[in-house]
Amino acid sequence: MRVDILTVFPEVIRSGVDYSIVKRAQEKGAVTVCVHNIRDFTEDKHRTTDEPPYGGGAGMVMKPEPIFRAAEQIKTEYWTDQSRVIMLCPQGEPFTQRKAEELSMLPHLVLICGHYEGVDERVREHLVDEELSIGDYVLTGGELPALVVLDSVVRLIPGVLGGGESPLDESFSEGLLEYPHYTRPADFRGWKVPDVLLSGHHGEVAKWRRFESLKRTLNRRPDLLEKADLLDEDEATIKKLKESG
Ligand SMILES: C[S@@+](CC[C@H](N)C(=O)[O-])C[C@H]1O[C@@H](n2cnc3c(N)ncnc32)[C@H](O)[C@@H]1O
Repeated sequence: MRVDILTVFPEVIRSGVDYSIVKRAQEKGAVTVCVHNIRDFTEDKHRTTDEPPYGGGAGMVMKPEPIFRAAEQIKTEYWTDQSRVIMLCPQGEPFTQRKAEELSMLPHLVLICGHYEGVDERVREHLVDEELSIGDYVLTGGELPALVVLDSVVRLIPGVLGGGESPLDESFSEGLLEYPHYTRPADFRGWKVPDVLLSGHHGEVAKWRRFESLKRTLNRRPDLLEKADLLDEDEATIKKLKESG
């Protein structure tokens, strides 16, 4: 996969792509991250990327020309009919694990990071395929959201997670929160690991994990259960959990 990121703060993106999974994925050749400074696509002496809004009001708005030029430059380097141009925006579609799974199957993403009051509307109308929000709060810029999207997408590319790590077990992959984890020691200050996890009985461990996953989702995110892939026995477990309060 190739990911192009357009930003006025390239150093923020670079600092975020140079460690852990995203770094490993680049080393393995699973992803190529290209960071573009929008300022490099300006044509005036001051390298202007933003101007006051028409109609007045507070703040600055990112100009369309350098963003279009950057995107057009990328198109000359690499483009496919599945390339997807995404703008990070608090008004966008909420970003979810499902969306990360969908994006992880694409060969090419272009992520546009806004700043200031946001981006000239013509970018949204004529360049962007979709807008993604990482939550109902407003950040200063799109760089952290772009890194969030990048990290969650890259770890889903087959072969990126190593050593038996599996994205399929994780929270949200089946619409549920993940079960609790324990590691050594089996007894820490008198707080013991559940016996079943020490039993070596894989079937019982799997049952316990499913039960804990359902219980945790019911307690913390009951809204997820409405859309989760549930088995008949899960429905029965949830009914019992609800009855037992
Ligand atoms: C200060 S925000 C602009 C907010 C805009 N004036 C509004 O009220 O919708 C600047 C930039 O940060 C990014 N941003 C802020 N919050 C975000 C969020 N929750 N999800 C995705 N991007 C966000 C976007 O790229 C946005 O253009």
